[in-house]
Amino acid sequence: MTTQPVVYVTRRIPETGLAPVREVCQVRLWEGELPPPKTVILQEVADCDGLLCLLTDPIDDEVMAAGTRLRVISQMAVGVDNIDLRAATARGIPVGHTPGVLTEATADFTFALLMAAARRIPEGVDYVRAGKWRTWEPMGLLGVDVWKATLGIIGMGRIGAAVARRARGFAMPILYYDPTRRPDLEAELGVEYADLDDLLARSDFVSLHCPLTPETYHLIGETALRRMKPTAILINAARGPVVDPDALVRALSEGWIRAAALDVTEPEPLPPDHPLVSLPNCVVVPHIASATVSTRERMAAMAAENLLAGLRGERLPYCANPEVYTRSREG
Ligand code: DGY
Repeated sequence: MTTQPVVYVTRRIPETGLAPVREVCQVRLWEGELPPPKTVILQEVADCDGLLCLLTDPIDDEVMAAGTRLRVISQMAVGVDNIDLRAATARGIPVGHTPGVLTEATADFTFALLMAAARRIPEGVDYVRAGKWRTWEPMGLLGVDVWKATLGIIGMGRIGAAVARRARGFAMPILYYDPTRRPDLEAELGVEYADLDDLLARSDFVSLHCPLTPETYHLIGETALRRMKPTAILINAARGPVVDPDALVRALSEGWIRAAALDVTEPEPLPPDHPLVSLPNCVVVPHIASATVSTRERMAAMAAENLLAGLRGERLPYCANPEVYTRSREG
């Protein structure tokens, strides 16, 4: 009789992910609504073969050192900035993630944020709820046009490109900045490459789609915000720490830019008494850009696929540290 691998799952995820893992593994599931404390993760990984985690779990070298049997880490998210990839590679642990399946949902939501801020939808909802809607007002809750406005996309990966496709429907001229120039997308979508300063100065909307790395940490701080147009709107559906929150509070309060719409913040969650929550020109939602039923089901299924491949000793179909395989061959 072969013993089943032991897997720790750090939160309840859709059954599309849990069911295939349960079929062949002994699953230990953290049932809490909030993420397990790090002390719990450290204890749980001690005798686990696989870890299925979320972006809210700090998976650092200490966790990997505690998981002496860990053969695979599979995260149900595309972003893996909470995982020390370098440490995982050094320890020969492949890390799975979920690219592609959340691209369209995230791009849809980016547009929802853009429209919400441009057309002041949350303010309109509050207005009605507060009983202030007494008549049609010729000068009330005026927003800005989206149609034909210039969109600047920072980070032209899958999600950035999907946002650009949507923007074409609004006849928006599109600028992009990315460390890698994309002639394919320039030809397909008519997007124009710009350096960061130029993009910030020319865009009516600046939308962030870059990963969080040491290079992008607080990329949008005081200097960048001051380069933007006073009428510009900032959208962040990437990672919170790409934007310096203190600088953004000042930019929104002092009119350096017009508005912001944030799916992600620093910190997360944002405390209810944080100034960004109460500023009328800031829309904040709780990191829900990928939150559709079918997208979360696909993300969970993909996380299971990666986990099970790793447990079988196969190459992960969606691996965030593919260099781990080169390292093992050389090592
Ligand atoms: C991700 O996958 O990285 C998103 O932030 C959550 O869906």
